[in-house]
Amino acid sequence: MKDLIGFFDSGVGGISVLHTARRLMPNEHFLFYGDNLNAPYGPRPLEEIRALSAAGIEKLLERDVKAIVIACNTATSAYAEIIRAQRPDMIIVGMEPALKPAHFARHGGQVIVLATDATLRLEKFERLMALYGKGVVPVVGEGLVELVEGGKAKSPEAATQLKKLLGPYRDRQIDAIVLGCTHFPFLAEPIQRMFPRARLFDGREGTAQRLKSLLDERGLRSGDGPGDVEYQSSGGEASVQLMERLMGELN
Ligand code: DGL
Repeated sequence: MKDLIGFFDSGVGGISVLHTARRLMPNEHFLFYGDNLNAPYGPRPLEEIRALSAAGIEKLLERDVKAIVIACNTATSAYAEIIRAQRPDMIIVGMEPALKPAHFARHGGQVIVLATDATLRLEKFERLMALYGKGVVPVVGEGLVELVEGGKAKSPEAATQLKKLLGPYRDRQIDAIVLGCTHFPFLAEPIQRMFPRARLFDGREGTAQRLKSLLDERGLRSGDGPGDVEYQSSGGEASVQLMERLMGELN
């Protein structure tokens, strides 16, 4: 029997986190489940996001995973506390916008936090803002998840949408930009081109490190032999192919 680590996202975004986890833990076996059929979650009401997250995470639990990564800021904000209360013994690693390191990278300018509507409106973000909110400009990444889900992260449409959303801030001193949605690292290049002096932050490394240390603490790391990834999606074969393609594009 393989000892699996389950990854969940509303779609392909969590692949960006899985890529980092694979680099850190090459011997582990991963199961990635993306609910592509129902992405994006961000514009949905809270109860709907909770129900979809519960169903997606259940898919991982059915496979007897040893740990779960909610590789989605939106699902973490809506559902992590609930599933943690239901499964107190399970390793459950969630995500949040990397506001803290971005805050410390400020040198007099502002910090843009680009995330989904739900992430920015839920309580978790309010708590982060209370700690690190000085100079922060939250921006809803409207339409961006759809572009990444459509395999169009590098398209002219994506560049146009980014200009629409972030163009108004180009004349300001932007010291840092937080990619507060796991789909957005796939848009890092055009964002960096728009703001060449800003540092980009995301939660991938912190999340993967946290997973590794929790597995280490409990003696649950896989031993020798190469690990692998099994991809599953509510969106069918086309979504699985996109997951594999995006995994190959990251380095
Ligand atoms: N990848 C997700 C996140 O990190 C959610 C995208 C969505 O479905 O709206 O927030």
